[in-house]
Amino acid sequence: MGRRFEPVWAHFYAIVRSVDKPNLPNNFHVLFKQGGSKLRILVTGGAGYIGSVAVALLMEKGYQVAVLDDISTGHIESIPEGARFVRGSVLDQDNILNALEGCTAVLHFAGKSLVGESAEKPDLYQDVNVNGSKNLLVQMRSKNVKKLIFSSSAATYGEVDLNPISENSKTSPTNPYGSTKLQVEELISKECAEHGLSAVSLRYFNVAGALKTQNGWLAEKHDPETHLIPNILKSSEENPVRVFGTDWPTYDGTCIRDYVHVIDLVEAHVLALLSLVEPGHKIYNLGSGRGYSVKEVIAASDKATGKSTPYVSEVRRSGDPAILIADIAKVKRELGWAPIRGIQEMVADAYRSTEAFF
Ligand code: UFG
Repeated sequence: MGRRFEPVWAHFYAIVRSVDKPNLPNNFHVLFKQGGSKLRILVTGGAGYIGSVAVALLMEKGYQVAVLDDISTGHIESIPEGARFVRGSVLDQDNILNALEGCTAVLHFAGKSLVGESAEKPDLYQDVNVNGSKNLLVQMRSKNVKKLIFSSSAATYGEVDLNPISENSKTSPTNPYGSTKLQVEELISKECAEHGLSAVSLRYFNVAGALKTQNGWLAEKHDPETHLIPNILKSSEENPVRVFGTDWPTYDGTCIRDYVHVIDLVEAHVLALLSLVEPGHKIYNLGSGRGYSVKEVIAASDKATGKSTPYVSEVRRSGDPAILIADIAKVKRELGWAPIRGIQEMVADAYRSTEAFF
C-alpha cells in the first residue's frame, strides 16, 4: 500500500466502524471530527433519498453541511437541524451561489431520476439534469470550489452485451435519463480539463435500503413509486406487485439487477471526496458486484417480513435489459471501497423504514 492511499484506508475503516449499526451511533470518530469539521460540503438534492442519507452521514462524521433542494421530490423533514438549508433549484444561479457560501466541495445529487418519466418528459430531464449541472459548474468555478462528486447512473451504459459491466464498457444510453447523466459526465470532464476541477462520477446500479437516524428513517419514498423493493413491500392481495417478465433468458425467467445498500453507496462518496487531490475526472461503478433476480428479491423480502409477497406476472417492461451487474474492481482497487451490506439487510432496512415513516 503506497503512502498516498493511507488516509483513504484509515477513513474507510473508521467509516465501517461508525455505521455498522443501522441507527446512527453517538460515538463520533475523532478522525472525522477533526478532519471534517473544517470543511463545509454542499449537498445538492440533500432532501432526497440518497442525498439525505449523505447529509446524515457527513454530519455524523463531523462535516458541516449545506443543502440545496427545491423540495420538488425531496422531503423537507429529512433535513437535519444543523445543516444550512437553501430552498431552491439548481436552475437558479442565485440559489446555487447562496448555497455554495463557505463550501469547499459539492456532492451533486439534485436531478430527476425516473427512467419512465424521462421518456415522457425528455425536456424536463435535459433542463434539470444537464442545465442544472451546467449552472452548478459555472458557479463552482466562480467561487473557486474545486471538488465535485457527481451522482451518475448505470443507465449511462444502456443495453450491454457483457456482464459484469466495467467502466470501460461502451456507453449507449437507451433513455433520456441515462443520456442526461452521460452528458453531465462529459461536461465535468471538460471542466476538469479546462478549469482544473477535481471530480468523481459514481455510476449507481440499483440503490436500496434505508438509514435510521435519531430523527427517523431516511428511505425511498417516491410518488409514484416505480422501484422494485418499495413496490414489493407495498404489495397486497388487492394490489399485488407486478413482476415485469418471467420469460427473460435468466435462471428463473426474471430480470437480474445489482443492488447496493444506500449506506455503503454513501460511504463510497466520502472516500471519493477524500481521494480528490489532483485536477481530473474519475468514473467508478457502484454496485455489489453480484446480481439478484426479481424472484430472489421477493424471496428476501418474504424472509424479512415473515409474509408471502403477493405478486402477478406481467409482460416485460419496455426498455428493461435482462441483466445488469457491476464490475466493481476499479472502485475497490482505487478507493478501497467494498460494500458490506447484502440484499437481506437492504430489504430488512427498507421494510423497517416503511413501518415508521416520518
Ligand atoms: N420490477 C418489477 N416490478 C416492479 C418494479 C420493477 O418487476 O414493480 C423489475 C424491473 O423490471 C427490473 C427490476 O425489477 O427488472 C428493477 O427495477 P427498478 O425499477 O427497481 O430499477 P431499474 O433497474 O429499472 O433502474 C434502477 C434505477 C435507475 C438506474 C438503474 C441502473 O431506478 O435510476 O437502476 O441500473 F438507472
